[in-house]
Amino acid sequence: MQQSANTYKYLILPFAVALLLLTHCTYDNSVDSYGNTAACDTAAVTFSQDIKALIGQNCEGCHNGMSANGGLILSGHQNTAAAALNGSLIDRMTRSAGDPLLMPPSGALSDCDISKLQSWIGEGAPNN
Ligand code: HEC
Repeated sequence: MQQSANTYKYLILPFAVALLLLTHCTYDNSVDSYGNTAACDTAAVTFSQDIKALIGQNCEGCHNGMSANGGLILSGHQNTAAAALNGSLIDRMTRSAGDPLLMPPSGALSDCDISKLQSWIGEGAPNN
């Protein structure tokens, strides 16, 4: 009886510490997320600096000359701008979670990425 009570006592401290650490991490993360959202800079978005990489990392793997899912190629400025200006990119990227038409299929991009794309489209999707 005494033995098991002691074992129990020794488990409480590590558990309490783990709980504190976890709570602390959650707090840190929420501060980080808030900071990132506030830092989203959509003022000077360019194709070469922002959009090319955004599409390259998230879309082009399934939408290129060798593998054009849905008949859509998103390689290069001309292809990307055409799909951006006809509204199909934003339409597919802003569908709700669970909608089979959401792009990319693995889940929506961050609000910041979508805002950058919208800002670039608002400028006329230039090759800048
Ligand atoms: C894992 C593969 C994959 C990725 C990554 C992906 N797509 Fe797609 N996409 C597809 C498939 C498959 C289709 C065809 C089925 C459909 O229309 O949903 C499609 C269709 C589309 C269409 C409709 C084309 C048309 O004219 O019918 C658009 C627009 C589109 N994707 C945009 C995007 C954008 C923008 C991204 C990146 C943010 C992206 N996709 C990332 C697989 C992908």
